[in-house]
Amino acid sequence: MKTVLSQAEYAEISKGFDPDPFNSWSINTRCYQDPAYLKLDQEQIFHRSWQFLCHESKLAEAGSFVTSSIQGQSIFATRDHNGELRAFYNVCKHRGHELLSGEGRKKLIVCPYHAWCYNLDGSLKAARRSEVLKNFDKSTINLEPIRIEIFCHMVFVNLDMDTAPLATQSGNLANEIMSYAPDLPKLKHAHRLTYNIKANWKSIVDNFLECYHCPVAHRDFCTLVDMETYRVKTHGIYSSHIAKAGTTNNNAYDVGNATVTDHAVWYLWPNTTLMRYPGRGNFMVWRFVPTGPETTYEEFDFFFETDTPNDDEIEAIKFIDDVLQPEDIGLVESVQRGMQTPAFNRGRYLVDPEESGLSEHAVHHFHGLVLEAYRGACKT
Ligand code: FES
Ligand SMILES: [Fe+2]
Repeated sequence: MKTVLSQAEYAEISKGFDPDPFNSWSINTRCYQDPAYLKLDQEQIFHRSWQFLCHESKLAEAGSFVTSSIQGQSIFATRDHNGELRAFYNVCKHRGHELLSGEGRKKLIVCPYHAWCYNLDGSLKAARRSEVLKNFDKSTINLEPIRIEIFCHMVFVNLDMDTAPLATQSGNLANEIMSYAPDLPKLKHAHRLTYNIKANWKSIVDNFLECYHCPVAHRDFCTLVDMETYRVKTHGIYSSHIAKAGTTNNNAYDVGNATVTDHAVWYLWPNTTLMRYPGRGNFMVWRFVPTGPETTYEEFDFFFETDTPNDDEIEAIKFIDDVLQPEDIGLVESVQRGMQTPAFNRGRYLVDPEESGLSEHAVHHFHGLVLEAYRGACKT
């Protein structure tokens, strides 16, 4: 059963939230802890939004497939023999066994339980020993489709069949990304970092969306980018966070050979961030996946010009893994513990009219989107 939010509960969690970030309080911290809000996040946010799956090159060949799970919903994507991209719930129509695991290439999809056999377009090709059944018409049996779309050479899926295309929902985002990363179609998956964090996924997004904390918590990062040029813009379902690479001495990693001199980062509702760092041609996709009301799995995928990182890129990955991430994980886990006390249930946004990196207006923008999603669960 879907979670319903009473008007009184909605009023409590949004108390003090104002469309004007200069006059606004943040959303109530119970949204960051209560298991009922994890369920609400799943139903109103994750099961209705575009989720990153993989780079398009993974599904280039007919029969190639990738499986995933969207908050408990097992899915897979494939390219059929007519070249069409398709995505389905990863569930057999006989008794509900999962059909595929991992990733790879198949001519047909054969269920591991009783070997029902599906074409790549989801139609049932054969069901063993079904000839003797009455009223069994295999032409009426198809895998349950979900939405799939290629956006900026990356594959996204969405469980909500009625949703607008990501390209439409995200306005000018594709143009922005492609103007900074025109080499995206040629980049190759080269590395993955993963983390399990003791914090609600929204705390991690909040932390990602502001650099108010950077001069305090990320001293080395502040030498990598020129904080004076850092600007944050919010639009519809995304925000962009753009700065020039620093020109002074840099303590983060060597950018002496850099062809990319901008630090360009986008947040895409609800849990995906897309990044281009100073260095060689590169792109990073970083996702925050809830694993509980107060725990999150992070997956950080690196795409480079080659499928293995060069020495400079290894140094950049090490900087993220050894310096930046431990700094941020320490912050968000501490915030989660702080939220568990009765001493903090909402706070103010520190907003800068110049929309600099030091401003928290993108956190306010994110909270507005969260509240809009929660309103969808309110009784009318
Ligand atoms: S559950 Fe798939 S063939 Fe029986
Ligand atoms: Fe940070």
